Amino acid sequence: MTVEEASSRIEPARIEHPSGKLLDLSIDIVARAERLGAALHPETAAQLARTVRIMNTYYSNLIEGHNTRPREIEQALHGILPEDDRRDLKIEAVAHYRVQQALDEQAAAGTLPDPASEAFIQNLHRSFYEGATEKMLTISSNSHSFIMAPGEWRQGKEQDVVIGRHLPPASDRVPDFMAYFHQRFAFTPRPGGEMIAVGKSRSARLFAMATAHHRFNYIHPFPDGNGRVSRLMSHAMAQSAGVGAHGLWSVSRGLARGLTGGPEGRAEYKQHMAWADEPRQGDRDGRGNLSLEGLEIFTEWFLGVCVDQLDYMESLFDLKTLGTRLKRYVDRQEALPSECAPLLQEALIRGEFDRGEATRISGLPERSARRALKALVDDGMLASKTEKGPVSLRFPVKALDTLFPRLYPDGA
Ligand SMILES: Nc1ncnc2c1ncn2[C@@H]1O[C@H](COP(=O)(O)OP(=O)(O)O)[C@@H](O)[C@H]1O
Ligand SMILES: [Mg+2]
Repeated sequence: MTVEEASSRIEPARIEHPSGKLLDLSIDIVARAERLGAALHPETAAQLARTVRIMNTYYSNLIEGHNTRPREIEQALHGILPEDDRRDLKIEAVAHYRVQQALDEQAAAGTLPDPASEAFIQNLHRSFYEGATEKMLTISSNSHSFIMAPGEWRQGKEQDVVIGRHLPPASDRVPDFMAYFHQRFAFTPRPGGEMIAVGKSRSARLFAMATAHHRFNYIHPFPDGNGRVSRLMSHAMAQSAGVGAHGLWSVSRGLARGLTGGPEGRAEYKQHMAWADEPRQGDRDGRGNLSLEGLEIFTEWFLGVCVDQLDYMESLFDLKTLGTRLKRYVDRQEALPSECAPLLQEALIRGEFDRGEATRISGLPERSARRALKALVDDGMLASKTEKGPVSLRFPVKALDTLFPRLYPDGA
């Protein structure tokens, strides 16, 4: 083992002395996450979490250049045809969605494992590649190709990787690096762990979420899929930091778009990752192998992105705005009589209502009210768990342009 291959090469791993700016960002995230969706009915929030998962899947795959459109993802969740020529992309998208769903469910049940643990991370990778075809698992370079084993760290010289100008540790060193990673980013103390865990403080967990995101990708423990897995890990860390807001926001949209918007914004993520790869720049740049300043700049950017996403989601899910947009949606749909709007708005406020209440809510004669209700069910905006049961809101992808402007780039 050479000195450069010591697992402490990822130091500094945590922000021990946060600036006022970083502390303010973390406080802002906590406050916004608590507000987000607090006014929503749990049933409505659960449907929106579904929308957020599709969105996260879309953006996380897009960052890797895999463009699976939101509508395709929504359809694929209901099944993928064997002869579909975009089958591999859809398998990947559905897997991403399902992994995030499982994380959200574990977070709600309080059973989320420590997101920095090796077992958890390997399991994320394994689940993400569940159902993957051999073609999807084949990694080719100019000189050779091999089939990746889901959930297994890189192995042997042929699985060494290069990312741009950065050379991650040799494959043989990955187990040690990931053991060290776990020690440094464990949220709760591990039995026998020699190092101090991140602890319960939400700010400390948020800083760790940001820095772990970079250090994980710096190690690049898997032959492929590190980007997607790291964004799912960050999602889990946000949940564990208590800022998950029941799955109503996620970091990938912000990582993909950056803070400045446009092509420059889209380049921010890779640029900030590359800065954080830099070695220590002189005596006043921390005490680790890597630049402390690079890590602080990355953390500030990453948490700024989180604030930006929370802010955007809060604006989308504001009851008053959403009520107005539901009416706009009805006005735009030929098949929906304008009397449909109060039914959607009632479902928004109350979460669900009995079918028999449609007359009172819409103020229409019984037959017309029933017709309006049926039109909304046929359109996919209202649905119920049982045939005659109470109806609640749905957010089909086709309605998203109107309901949630800018959720996706134009033409997605
Ligand atoms: N300079 C860098 N330093 C560390 N990580 C980087 C750098 N540039 C990009 N990355 C990370 O590498 C990821 C791509 O790795 P890869 O294993 O191909 O993941 P995936 O298959 O999910 O695309 C990017 O999403 C990003 O998170
Ligand atoms: Mg890749």
